[in-house]
Amino acid sequence: MPHREVPARVSANSPNPIHDMDSYRAEYAESMADSESYWLGVTRNSITWRTLPTIGLEGDFSSVVDAPLRWFSDGLLNVTESCLDRHVDAHPDKIAILWEGDEPDDIRRISYRELHSDVCRFANGLLSLGIAKHDRVIIYMGMVPEAAVAMLACARIGAIHSVVFGGFSAESLRDRINDCESNLIITQDEGLRGGRTIPLKKTVDESLIGTSSVENVIVLKRTGNDIPSLEHDVDWHELIAGVDDNNQAVIVEAEHPLFILYTSGSTGKPKGLVHTCGGYITYTSYTHRTVFDLRDDDIYACVADVGWITGHSYIVYGPLANGATTFMFESTPLYPDAGRYWDMVERHKMSIFYTAPTAIRALAAKGDDLVQRSDRSSLRVLGTVGEPINPEAWDWYYEVVGEEKCNIVDTWWQTETGGICISPVAPATPTIGGSATLPLPGILPLLKDDQGVELEGEAEGLLCLAEPWPGQARTIWGDHERFIDVYFSMFEGLYFTGDGCRRGADGYHWITGRVDDVINVSGHRMGTAEFEAVLVTSDVVAEAAVVGYPHEIKGTGVHAYLVMQGNSEMTEETETMLNLACRKAIGAHAKVDRFQQVPGLPKTRSGKVMRRILRKVAEGEPDALGDISTLADPSVVEAIKSGFKW
Ligand code: WT7
Repeated sequence: MPHREVPARVSANSPNPIHDMDSYRAEYAESMADSESYWLGVTRNSITWRTLPTIGLEGDFSSVVDAPLRWFSDGLLNVTESCLDRHVDAHPDKIAILWEGDEPDDIRRISYRELHSDVCRFANGLLSLGIAKHDRVIIYMGMVPEAAVAMLACARIGAIHSVVFGGFSAESLRDRINDCESNLIITQDEGLRGGRTIPLKKTVDESLIGTSSVENVIVLKRTGNDIPSLEHDVDWHELIAGVDDNNQAVIVEAEHPLFILYTSGSTGKPKGLVHTCGGYITYTSYTHRTVFDLRDDDIYACVADVGWITGHSYIVYGPLANGATTFMFESTPLYPDAGRYWDMVERHKMSIFYTAPTAIRALAAKGDDLVQRSDRSSLRVLGTVGEPINPEAWDWYYEVVGEEKCNIVDTWWQTETGGICISPVAPATPTIGGSATLPLPGILPLLKDDQGVELEGEAEGLLCLAEPWPGQARTIWGDHERFIDVYFSMFEGLYFTGDGCRRGADGYHWITGRVDDVINVSGHRMGTAEFEAVLVTSDVVAEAAVVGYPHEIKGTGVHAYLVMQGNSEMTEETETMLNLACRKAIGAHAKVDRFQQVPGLPKTRSGKVMRRILRKVAEGEPDALGDISTLADPSVVEAIKSGFKW
């Protein structure tokens, strides 16, 4: 299918400094000529500092081996003053958070004045429990406004939040509690999604077995159903009853950690990426207003979950720092039917809508009627993120959802980058369906081949970023060595993204997907090693190797090759049992789509599994295996190929 090319709809009165390609080029050139002063200028003009920074960057991609990078290090601030206080002064009654609950008629509108008051009151509640600067607070909630209140209240007092996606299992939650030695968990009695309840508090209780750091659990009543209560539980509303909303923000250094967010890597152990205050708030707010071409009266909706980086950067911190009206959505795109998103667009007259390719594909499959029954004329910008978008899905988004009137921004970035790095700027960049197009100011992409040779011009290779930017993660919590090992040891002086990328003759970037053992299933990032670790703990499995393969809706499906123990055979019951184990160990989003029993795994003589072979077979390209002569037993390849039945 050809890739559709669409010129940007340049808007005459855009407040965006980047409003056409000339201004993009000028801005980009300025950022590259002196990125430190570029970002100092951006932050001094857009963020509320108690002490303005005079230093741009300390360190570089070589010195990061010894010590984390530092941006704006002599500046002092509290990010909530940028997200709340200044907007209370400027436009107290503007809606900060517009929320739609699981049922479409369950709507809340929270003004900046109210949000400020809620955050201050809850911050005082946290202080009354003895929570202080540097403490790690785990937030395990659904998509309720209180999740944002909890995040901001932590930031208000200098505590470090770590939001754990509500789909994660008790075991995954426990690993995270122990890794960051959290002393407080904030949760709900139950979550509510698609008419079903999610036992959040029950999972928290289970996760606490085998932990010793947690002193209290704050429980927000969402469903009000009867659930067991423990001595350390504190009811959210009782905590803030009678507490006033006078709260002086704790002023911290720019490099004070704002949050830890765990994400999957190549090993079974998730990485707690640390983002810090000054650089992160500068970068997320800058990219949010620039890429989406934000206007004062926009109704902006990002339908991600706050448990992922997208929710942190583009539901909470970026939009609120920009004084925008940001939408929060508790339910699923399929409830009560697959027209829910477009009904919401009409109901709230949304002008910017940001979602993921997996949702676009799933909704496209339900037919156009469900889109067309709603008025979408308020839409101006449509965004996508999380995985490569195929041209069919891009075209459907552009033609059916946007009626060929919206600019589409395909935004490439990662948990590690904090914010968008490669993307069209809505009113400026001509788009081609499937391409994330060009780098934002301050971002210098570079392609390497696997020998470390830089590729110039039109080429395909490993995507690196060569210039530091303020929003990037500084370290992995408690393990700076791993941070260096994963991101900075591959190529000296460069940040390695883990993605493959093709650059066209026009300089446009086409992300081809992960080149490491990370897979992106319906936009949920998981490590193949996490699956393997669960599968081999089963009595019937001797060895396991998991790879991704192209999946029509999910983007990537999960294919498990299993060597069974003794005479065990793969049966449907075994599959169900193994998937239950994955769900229990990792979370509700972890499911193997295909199980294939094999007599052995393709290993080199030194015992290393040649995953390339397994990937190729799962991708349905068994004749493109390349050189297999270094295998200890090349005959297993034939067995693997002949046992492949999909
Ligand atoms: C990985 C990062 C960034 C927030 C959501 C995911 C893939 C992300 C795109 C895009 C192609 C993309 C990459 C990246 N990815 N956006 N527009 N086009 N691929 O964050 O869980 O940290 O995953 O998602 O492979 O490395 P994440």
